[in-house]
Amino acid sequence: MADKTLDDLFLDTLKDIYYAEKQILKALPKMAGAAQSSELKAGFEKHRDETEGQIERLEQVFEMLGKRPQGKTCDAILGILEEGKEIMEEYKGTPALHAGLVAAGQAIEHYEMARYGTLKTWAGQLGLSNAVTLLDATLAEEKATDKALSGIATQSANAKAA
Ligand SMILES: [Fe+2]
Ligand SMILES: [Fe+2]
Repeated sequence: MADKTLDDLFLDTLKDIYYAEKQILKALPKMAGAAQSSELKAGFEKHRDETEGQIERLEQVFEMLGKRPQGKTCDAILGILEEGKEIMEEYKGTPALHAGLVAAGQAIEHYEMARYGTLKTWAGQLGLSNAVTLLDATLAEEKATDKALSGIATQSANAKAA
């Protein structure tokens, strides 16, 4: 197809992350349920609530484009979430579960940061300044979540070493 443009790519990628966010919304309560530390549990729960707002922002972006919000199967997030599920099953009840859950959470955030960073750039190139604002707000939440997870990992490693 020689006639596909950046507009098409932007819309397709929007559908990809919309699908991914809905999968993440279902996965986060399971990760919170598996977390043994109250801090990690609270972190996943807080981000679950933020994710609801992120889905709404994406719906607003679809609306700006005059499109119906629609997801498109994202194999990348399915793979990342599947790996997280494996960690929860295979490390259940072990001292390594905590580190594994943090790592699984960070893999999700890094995928989202890649997607939102790209979408924000493309929205700018397409002159969709309102979309840039919405995508940037979500990108900031994903980055903050990643940072919080890093903090939780460092704290628990220090506590163990002490
Ligand atoms: Fe998200
Ligand atoms: Fe996230």
